[in-house]
Amino acid sequence: MGSSLVEYWKQRDAVVGGRCLPTANSRVSFAAADRNLDDAARAYSSITPFDILLFPQYTGYVTSKPAVTFRDQYGPWAVIAGASEGTGSAFAHSLARRGLSCVLVAWAGPLAEVAEEIRTQYGVECVTANIDLSATDAFDRILDATGGREIGLYVANAGSDRFGSRYLDHDVEDWLGLLAMNVSTTMRACHHFGRQMRARRRGGLLIVNSGACYGGGSFLATYTGCKGFLLNFAEGLWSELRPYGVDVLTMVLSMTRTPMFLRLLTEKGVPEPAGLASPMDVVEQALERLPHGPVHNWGLADDEGGYAVTSAAGRRARVLAIDASSKRIYGD
Ligand SMILES: NC(=O)c1ccc[n+]([C@@H]2O[C@H](COP(=O)([O-])OP(=O)(O)OC[C@H]3O[C@@H](n4cnc5c(N)ncnc54)[C@H](OP(=O)(O)O)[C@@H]3O)[C@@H](O)[C@H]2O)c1
Repeated sequence: MGSSLVEYWKQRDAVVGGRCLPTANSRVSFAAADRNLDDAARAYSSITPFDILLFPQYTGYVTSKPAVTFRDQYGPWAVIAGASEGTGSAFAHSLARRGLSCVLVAWAGPLAEVAEEIRTQYGVECVTANIDLSATDAFDRILDATGGREIGLYVANAGSDRFGSRYLDHDVEDWLGLLAMNVSTTMRACHHFGRQMRARRRGGLLIVNSGACYGGGSFLATYTGCKGFLLNFAEGLWSELRPYGVDVLTMVLSMTRTPMFLRLLTEKGVPEPAGLASPMDVVEQALERLPHGPVHNWGLADDEGGYAVTSAAGRRARVLAIDASSKRIYGD
């Protein structure tokens, strides 16, 4: 029965282009690999009593309430930290197209333009806030900007190193600002919004990362330190929140054609390398992989290591093993 059950869900995969996974809290979570949660939800609603007779072990799942649409799982509002350009504005467009209203945060970039575009193109609501994400009060200001709205998705996007210097040759205060933007502000946001999501038993935390998370190198000491933290942090959160239906993903980017990266190349007098990823492609892949977590490496298959040293599947297996071992000490 076990293997025929697998076959059954594989067939369903073929129908909806997605995957239907039973989660630990006994609800059906539709992780649609083709970004089409609505189709997955329709497939769910087509499950018949006959299916339940055939596969009684699924009764517990199919009779409880599934997460249905993308907006149901991650809406009604998303916060995007670093939303004025590049992957940040691509997130705003992709999420608004999926029906989410957006709180857009950036320091000085053209937020009003992005907001106007998404209001007109997708008819969603949009709020903007100019906040320095590296400041100590950044999270309090984000919270003010959300004004009590229900946040179903937090995207920690901003996090590049604008300094491009050796550690000792640059002001330590700037390094601490980079640390605060990547680490402290993200931790505070995940703590606050994550608690609300856990209570609602749905939602998502999406942390934009870099291949730099896999190890250090010169000119990158603080940056790789921050990104390595985010990798491990996201894996821990994924383990803790998966029983509650809250999805956590750290999306690991390689070189991407963002305005920030192009400015850095110009500053350093380096020609644009071939094969840069497009911000919109990266964002679509991140949203597609969000239900799977905890890691996705841009452009690589789930079980492929490539530039990432360890594949996403390898990291997931490791996290699950550590999780099982921690539970023996700390309990469930
Ligand atoms: N581009 C790449 O090749 C690449 C490669 C690997 C990983 N990544 C990762 O991808 C993410 C996005 O990178 P990116 O290249 O687009 O550059 P980024 O500077 O990290 O992100 C740009 C966005 O963040 C905002 N931002 C930057 N500093 C801010 C601050 N202190 N306070 C508030 N907003 C701030 C910018 O708005 P303002 O203009 O208003 O400051 C803009 O909206 C980062 O986490 C980065 O580490 C990028």
